[in-house]
Amino acid sequence: MAFQVSNRAQALAPSQTLKFSARAKELAAEGKSIVALTAGEPDFQTPGVICDAAIQAIHDGHHGYTVNAGLPALRERIAHKISRDQGLEVGIDQIVVSNGAKQSIGFSLLATLNPGDEVIIPTPFWVSYPEMVRFAEGTPIFIRTSYESAYKLNPEQLKQAITPKTRGLILCSPSNPTGSCYTRDELLELADVLRAHPNVMIYSDEIYEYLVYDGEAPSLFTVAPDLFERGIIINGFSKGFAMTGWRLGYMVAPVEIAKGLAKIQSQETSAPSTISQYAGIAAYDLPLSELDDMKQTFRTRRDKVVDRLQHMKGVQCQVPQGAFYVFPDISGLLGTKTAYGATIESSTDFCMEALEHAGLGMVPGDAFGEPNGIRLSFAASDAHLDEALQRLETFIEGLSPMSS
Ligand SMILES: Cc1ncc(COP(=O)(O)O)c(C=O)c1O
Repeated sequence: MAFQVSNRAQALAPSQTLKFSARAKELAAEGKSIVALTAGEPDFQTPGVICDAAIQAIHDGHHGYTVNAGLPALRERIAHKISRDQGLEVGIDQIVVSNGAKQSIGFSLLATLNPGDEVIIPTPFWVSYPEMVRFAEGTPIFIRTSYESAYKLNPEQLKQAITPKTRGLILCSPSNPTGSCYTRDELLELADVLRAHPNVMIYSDEIYEYLVYDGEAPSLFTVAPDLFERGIIINGFSKGFAMTGWRLGYMVAPVEIAKGLAKIQSQETSAPSTISQYAGIAAYDLPLSELDDMKQTFRTRRDKVVDRLQHMKGVQCQVPQGAFYVFPDISGLLGTKTAYGATIESSTDFCMEALEHAGLGMVPGDAFGEPNGIRLSFAASDAHLDEALQRLETFIEGLSPMSS
């Protein structure tokens, strides 16, 4: 009998971007020039002092496992950071260090959902959320937000979506893919709705918190600390410290939930790499001003990218306050055709044709549950961004209405 992949594995949707990266590789192998704005990680090196701390940890012989929830010294740094940045006092027994924010979200859902529980996910969403909810036997419930609201959920929409089966809400601010950040007042309004529904857990993905260019992006639990009794903060070192490959993240939760999270981690992975945990200590010992240069570079690129996009025909582009993505609306270009006769009905068509004919890699909004958008990452050099934007402009200029 042929070996079978489990129902669980079969039920997981493959990444929607795989088709694009496979085609991009084929085109590159044929000798075509491909420029991609698809990166989900900073194009910077990890700061030297963090690397030195990891090397030192190796020389000091820290080669074994750490306790399952993570080094106490690292959890102390995280508790201090949560007090300083989020204004919450937490003990180290409320913190579980993991192999990245991605694992933290998956474990948070596994630790708190029962089969059939509904989890509200505003769209556009980070691609992994719905599959992770399904993997934990929950049901994702999508709320479509609008370009006009900067893709932010409003209290009325939240109220309407909550049912007796609702068990969770996933919030991501600053957001991947839109870069939008909720303001204090917006969070206060959402908090009012959530207070009326004490069975709803709140999963707050704060992985881009240090990449904010205008104003602030407070945590929901900073503006409504009472909600933290049913909340999980998910964060990590990947984006703010340019440490994607180090695989280091964490969850902060009420003690009983943290125990559940630790139990899952103990049976699935154990603590993350000891070397990375020492690096994490050094990262959190750095003054936040160390991140200013990277932030300034991202801000300058953002302004350039937004300005170019705002001048392109059929494209509407708001200014993202955080993360390193722009998410323009291209609904004005849907229902057109390329110079080669291909029709563009969806963001997926748009990105596929731009890849084929302009050698430009972007991620279609369809992958994030928002059919009218496309995601462009500005985690790339100026020269790379200039070339990509030029290709996009030329591609758009070559489009014509469907009837012509
Ligand atoms: C919104 C969001 N959450 C979580 C993650 C995962 O981060 P990590 O590298 O810490 O697993 C990403 C990475 O792209 C992300 O964009």
